[in-house]
Amino acid sequence: MTHLTKNFARPEKNEEVVTFGSLDPSVQELLTAAFQVRQRAYVPYSGFKVGAAFRAKDGGQIFSGCNVENAAFTPCSCAERTAVTKAVSEGATEFSAGAVLAYEPDVFTTPCGVCRQFIREFANEDIPIYVAQAFDARISEKKDVLQSEDPVLCTSIFNLLPSSFHTYRK
Ligand code: THU
Repeated sequence: MTHLTKNFARPEKNEEVVTFGSLDPSVQELLTAAFQVRQRAYVPYSGFKVGAAFRAKDGGQIFSGCNVENAAFTPCSCAERTAVTKAVSEGATEFSAGAVLAYEPDVFTTPCGVCRQFIREFANEDIPIYVAQAFDARISEKKDVLQSEDPVLCTSIFNLLPSSFHTYRK
């Protein structure tokens, strides 16, 4: 084995699906923040609302963000990048956990490739990423809060983006 792979981002956590109600209250709080900010998603083009929230490693403050679209399409910001950019702007540059919420009927909405790289920039170790389903924003079956039995995918940034590019600046 060569030393050239020793800093590669290898997953340190297993992926599993658990219920919302079984999660630690601090994780429930993070998912709830993502759920709430999702309602502010600016999505006149896709109608696809996403909410994200990240907990700062120092101090534990939660920073949340929604996706913000644009008529020119290219300048769209995903919810994850809105949240992380808000946090970094406020001085929080390392996170202990993240949460993402959207609604597709048969699949968890995991962060896009660009967002995985964006999150990785501010995660020097493998941090958990919690992914849950919200209600469908295009129909009116609105739930007020996440329910205890709702499924949550517990993954991590190194599961989502193994062997990532990171060390250039160090
Ligand atoms: N989107 C996110 O906010 N996060 C993701 O991880 C995937 C995609 C947004 C971008 C766009 O506003 C809408 O979802 C449809 O792609």
